[in-house]
Amino acid sequence: MASVFFSGLSVNNEGIRDYWIFMGENIKKRILVTGGSGFIGTNFIRHALTVRPDWHIVNLDALTYAGNPANFDALKSELGERLHFVHGDIRDTILLEQLFSKENFEYVIHFAAESHVDRSILGPKAFVDTNVQGTFCLLEVSLKSWEDRGRPEGFCFLHVSTDEVYGSLGPQGHFKEETPYDPSSPYSASKASSDHFVKAYFHTYNLPTIITNCSNNYGPYQFPEKLIPLMILNILDGKPLPVYGDGKNVRDWLYVVDHCEAIIKAVEGGKPGETYNIGGNAERQNIEIVNLLCDLMDNRLSRSGNGSSRKLIQYVADRPGHDRRYAIDMTKIKMELGWSPKHCFEDAFEITIDWYLKNMDWVKSIQSGDYRKWIEKNYQDRKLGTSTDRFVGEK
Ligand code: NAD
Ligand code: DAU
Repeated sequence: MASVFFSGLSVNNEGIRDYWIFMGENIKKRILVTGGSGFIGTNFIRHALTVRPDWHIVNLDALTYAGNPANFDALKSELGERLHFVHGDIRDTILLEQLFSKENFEYVIHFAAESHVDRSILGPKAFVDTNVQGTFCLLEVSLKSWEDRGRPEGFCFLHVSTDEVYGSLGPQGHFKEETPYDPSSPYSASKASSDHFVKAYFHTYNLPTIITNCSNNYGPYQFPEKLIPLMILNILDGKPLPVYGDGKNVRDWLYVVDHCEAIIKAVEGGKPGETYNIGGNAERQNIEIVNLLCDLMDNRLSRSGNGSSRKLIQYVADRPGHDRRYAIDMTKIKMELGWSPKHCFEDAFEITIDWYLKNMDWVKSIQSGDYRKWIEKNYQDRKLGTSTDRFVGEK
């Protein structure tokens, strides 16, 4: 490796923030990832640093309950200077300005968010604070830095968003990029709002932005408040499996590494101002997912007959405003960027189950007092068998 030099900054304010700036001739692209210690961010950083040897990533994460800095522990010596962690909030504009003035970020890849629909129902404010205000702060500082640097070509602000902004589908049809926004939950309303701000910064100030709207992800490192890891761990512990409503809501499942590849395609080859829908082509009813998990776990745990895990399934009160069906039309990203999912659902699902079974230390490390409090709060009031599922007409 050729010439290198270091410079450093540490800020002591609400804890320790510490990062080092490293420059080497083999590091060509500097990327800011927000929320990189959460589920998709962790998978993204791990994948991107493997397939893009010239990328240097700064991971800015506030380490809420959903963020886990230990996700990179095993890679520290391998990654060395290519990954730097900054403990901070995307609403902290002073910190953002310091970061942008030290690093000439070529890409900003924005994952940081409050991401759980049930939490947004019980406490929507945090969703406005992070998803709306936080995205606004990041846009402001990105725009200023981009303009101060003379509007360099190649800069991209990629906003990672969700298919939930489109609302709910009936039995037929798919979300296209032109589908009107119709969010149902405080979570999806906050993501829709942030999407609109991103679009406004493109239209008003020409900031090069891209939005990706993706369906449900599954895979390693997902916090066990979400359907798949929650069910895996409850099956393991012989606890009830709470299925909301009639269990027939449909989600389009995508293996998280495929999502990460789509984001790389979009940030490198996407057209500024555009939106790309990302999906898994794997629509399943929730009850199908839970039954499959029970059967695959039973094989691994040698359970059968009266001891089978399906006996743990309990239908519980529905999620208020529960969207009935999501399905993605991914023609645009396929045709324009040549992306489609590489992993087949059946294989990736088994890989996911085995990852949790092999990483019980990781699971235990996040099942803290706060996690237990959330589980009690979310599930204690759901009355057995009560369904308030709403019907939403076909779009
Ligand atoms: P996650 O909840 O697992 O992780 C969110 C991360 O953001 C955490 O590390 C958390 O500490 C960090 N964070 C939260 N507030 C912050 C703040 N104010 N400042 C800095 N960091 C903060 O979420 P995820 O499932 O990995 O989702 C990542 C993104 O992808 C979100 O924007 C989400 O809306 C979107 N998305 C998720 C899915 C999915 O299935 N999980 C699907 C489509 C889109
Ligand atoms: O569609 C993309 C979205 O997918 C992302 O934007 C969100 O960040 C992500 O959390 C996810 O949202 P969902 O609400 O679809 O995911 P969740 O895992 O919470 O629920 C999946 C389905 O399972 C949903 O229909 C509700 C149901 N469910 C969920 C839980 C936690 C249950 O039946 N029981 C449960 O205990």
